[in-house]
Amino acid sequence: MGEPHVRPATAVEIEADWREFTGGPPAVGVLREYEPEDVEGIVWRDEASGRSGVVTWWVDGKGAEIVSVHAEPQGSGAGTRIMDAAEEELRRRGAKTVVLATTNDNARALNFYIKRGYRLVRLHLDAMDRVRARKPGVPSTGHDGVPLRDMWELEKVL
Ligand SMILES: CC(C)(COP(=O)(O)OP(=O)(O)OC[C@H]1O[C@@H](n2cnc3c(N)ncnc32)[C@H](O)[C@@H]1OP(=O)(O)O)[C@@H](O)C(=O)NCCC(=O)NCCS
Repeated sequence: MGEPHVRPATAVEIEADWREFTGGPPAVGVLREYEPEDVEGIVWRDEASGRSGVVTWWVDGKGAEIVSVHAEPQGSGAGTRIMDAAEEELRRRGAKTVVLATTNDNARALNFYIKRGYRLVRLHLDAMDRVRARKPGVPSTGHDGVPLRDMWELEKVL
């Protein structure tokens, strides 16, 4: 079966991933908005276990933003593997800190990031109104019936 496979994601794959999991481009981050061509990313796949994931990022000097993360099946360890791979690449590229955003309804992702060394550094109140102005399809309710309103900003020193 072989080892897990990591390879760069193409812009077409990134766009497809965002369409499936985030309502499509642009991705609205805490540093800026992103089109698929603006970011880099990796596709991680472990054929033996059926686990996979896609993570994308943007590097700007010593700062960076992880723009999207998705792994499946959830809770299988795939998310940890792709975050490790992304952070290793960001360090290699000279980034000293990385930020990322998650929505106020996504308690699972919030716990996941905090356990992996991210700190809550800012709360962007009503950020989802600004996202909806760009992406009208973003719903008003998120996970577990929670109103989708605000955006947490998390940061990790690499
Ligand atoms: C968030 C996500 C990337 C995490 O990846 P994952 O493969 O599920 O995570 P892992 O299995 O590597 O890590 C499990 C961690 O997730 C969290 N978790 C797992 N199951 C959970 C549950 N039922 N409820 C809450 N948190 C849970 C825990 O923090 C757990 O930590 P642990 O190391 O102590 O077990 C993944 O669940 C995902 O793709 N979610 C949908 C997309 C998404 O929300 N992306 C983030 C947008 S900001």
